Amino acid sequence: MTRFSAARRLLLLSSMSLALVAASGCKPKAGGEGEGSGAQSGPLVIGAFLSLTGSKADFGIKTQQGALLAIDEANAAGGVGGRPVKLVILDDQGTADEAGNAVTRLIDVENASAIMGEVSSSLSLVGGRIAQRRGVPMVSPSSTNTQVTEIGNFVFRTCFIDPFQGEVMATFAKEKQGFTRIAVIKDVRNDYSIGLAKSFIETFTKNGGTIVAEESYNEGDTDFSAQLTKIKALDAQALFVPGYYTEVGNLAKNSRRLGLNVPLLGGDGWESPKLREIGGADIVGSFYSNHFAPDNANEKSTAFIATYTKRWNEPPTALATLGYDATALIIDAMRRAKGEPTPAAIRDALEATKAFPAITGAVTFDANRNPVKPAVVLQVTETGDKFVTEIQPAGAAPAAPAPAAPVAPVAPAAPGSGAAAAPAAGSGAAK
Ligand code: PHE
Repeated sequence: MTRFSAARRLLLLSSMSLALVAASGCKPKAGGEGEGSGAQSGPLVIGAFLSLTGSKADFGIKTQQGALLAIDEANAAGGVGGRPVKLVILDDQGTADEAGNAVTRLIDVENASAIMGEVSSSLSLVGGRIAQRRGVPMVSPSSTNTQVTEIGNFVFRTCFIDPFQGEVMATFAKEKQGFTRIAVIKDVRNDYSIGLAKSFIETFTKNGGTIVAEESYNEGDTDFSAQLTKIKALDAQALFVPGYYTEVGNLAKNSRRLGLNVPLLGGDGWESPKLREIGGADIVGSFYSNHFAPDNANEKSTAFIATYTKRWNEPPTALATLGYDATALIIDAMRRAKGEPTPAAIRDALEATKAFPAITGAVTFDANRNPVKPAVVLQVTETGDKFVTEIQPAGAAPAAPAPAAPVAPVAPAAPGSGAAAAPAAGSGAAK
């Protein structure tokens, strides 16, 4: 009955993985809302909503690359109970309106049995409320704001949350870098930015540091000179900017132009090669926290890195790896579902997940459907982002080996750590 403006954005990916998929159009026979594609035959649909265009396009594009690899591997291994898995991806253009339209369409028109997405917490909050209402499980690969899974029992994620991420960077800033005076600049309409700023400030001040200023900006801003001029007078040793790569790159340029020559610190939202394209030399030397670093490979990720690099001709980013992990987890839950893989049965299987061997760290959900996983800190260098240290959360299973060597405070642009070279190839399948 309803009309969906997102219809025109439909992108049915004709990847190799879909070659296995019979022409779609198999509607569930019975059932109203929430029945999804739990019909007895035909492909099982995973619906993805991602930003493939707009200022956050890189988030969606990388996530999609990881997701497609997971779908290919699953179909090569026989799908789910003999049924192929089909990924239907809609571009939400990075906006809340289109994110809502996309999720509604994935459920009502595409008959998705489960939803994968979004990256940005603000968009996962929009999509998650719809999925919860319709009774279709949603797994966000990489939204870190606490509120996302608080929506309800149909919403999961495969990444750590911002209270941990903020603590990681606040501790790194104080203990590893010795900073005691930091200014914070956040995107005031971005749930992720607000939450990450809050947890950073809490830990940093608790540990005896001083927040010399709390400034704000809006997505799309390119001129930060008013805020930075204020901060310049306050003797800050670093700026904490929990934002997304486009604005952070521009802010770095602004700060150097104004003669504010202190390092920037940030979170996972920095992750994109575009950060260095935009920020240039002005962002080099800065640090951010993330979920995965290809130059910090362990046994498990080595095989994945090789497979992914072969498929996409570039090493996987954290977003790509989480896109892979979230999609692989959904497929695993479809296989574990009791009886027919209906949305409700898949949800139950997701909730029962125990030590799922995700590349970014084993996934077992706590009572709020959040996994407990390690974080890494990276430094932006002229040749790419380099692994600095890995931090285990309190109470985490010692899944990943400790980093090879303890890491001292890092001078800008440590040369020769060879991040781009993929480690020796493993034997193919990642799990
Ligand atoms: N954690 C960010 C958010 O919740 C999204 C993100 C994750 C961006 C990982 C880049 C890399 O909005």
